[in-house]
Amino acid sequence: MLISLRQLLDDAAEYGYGVPAFNINNMEQGLAILQAADKVDAPVIIQASRGARAYAGDIMLQAMVKALAEMYPHIPVCMHQDHGNNEATCMTAIQYGFTSVMMDGSLEADAKTPASYDYNMDITRRVTEMAHYAGASVEGELGVLGSLETGEGEQEDGHGATGKLSEDQLLTDPDQAVDFVAQTKVDALAIAMGTSHGAYKFTRQPDGDILAMNVVEEINRRLPNVHLVMHGSSSVPQELQDIFNAHGGEMPQTWGVPIAEIERGIKHGVRKVNIDTDCRLAMLGAMRKVTTENRSEFDPRKVLKPAMEAMQTLCIDRFERFGTAGNA
Ligand code: G3H
Ligand code: 13P
Ligand code: NA
Ligand code: ZN
Repeated sequence: MLISLRQLLDDAAEYGYGVPAFNINNMEQGLAILQAADKVDAPVIIQASRGARAYAGDIMLQAMVKALAEMYPHIPVCMHQDHGNNEATCMTAIQYGFTSVMMDGSLEADAKTPASYDYNMDITRRVTEMAHYAGASVEGELGVLGSLETGEGEQEDGHGATGKLSEDQLLTDPDQAVDFVAQTKVDALAIAMGTSHGAYKFTRQPDGDILAMNVVEEINRRLPNVHLVMHGSSSVPQELQDIFNAHGGEMPQTWGVPIAEIERGIKHGVRKVNIDTDCRLAMLGAMRKVTTENRSEFDPRKVLKPAMEAMQTLCIDRFERFGTAGNA
């Protein structure tokens, strides 16, 4: 059953759990998520980036999601546009059956340049007004993602945006968040709290307070009717790095967001937890393993099935750790 983000996250808030939002680009990733959800009885958020829409095509993506929902009729499925960059991206997503869109006005339409507050508020408000007419939910973003690790505000967001940012751009300001939600009426708000996109989040094993949990806590306290979203939430597990590197991969040592930190976030109102990198790494590690261990193999199914299983295992783990399991 397809449902909106608002419907799904209202339930998550009522019962105090978080929902991973996994990115998909193809059938195997979609099947992995739904197979995992089916095993542990979890509702799902599937999200597609602009890149995913260009890769698979809108018609294919729409048909795939419809098929997934039909195969697992008891699992609530929210189909979400990840990082929409303008009105057209968000509105065409809704035309193709997405039940939720992210209007990421924290960056300008080039998805690189940090945008002004007024630009962000204005475009997000317009998208929310239109999306709500269609019954779709909207996620906005306030603040620019980037690791706080160096304290120097080096931003790497996986979308080509780089450069020095000040700490106040790297952490969402709670006063601004209150105003932003009042002006835009978004259903969910992505906040900058010290995470960044991609595999290379931290260069050392993160200790205790790597994320700005005080900011999450305060925003949550002051915005009880908006659901908080944590981007850049891959944990980049050591065992997945090891599988990848043991079979010809060359990924430099890196650290992601510890699951325990995500669990703390969920206690403080984080409801949607975006994960793409971990799924990619799980799949590619499995694909490397089969292709290097069976060099004569050329049946794609022999490679893609273990890849799907590796992603499924990861999804099940996140559903269980975030408390999503049992809530379908
Ligand atoms: O936030 C970015 C997601 O990981 C999607 O990445 O634009 O390469 O599809 P992508
Ligand atoms: P990761 O790169 O940490 O998986 O984050 C994905 C994300 O935030 C998608 O919007
Ligand atoms: Na998103
Ligand atoms: Zn993101």
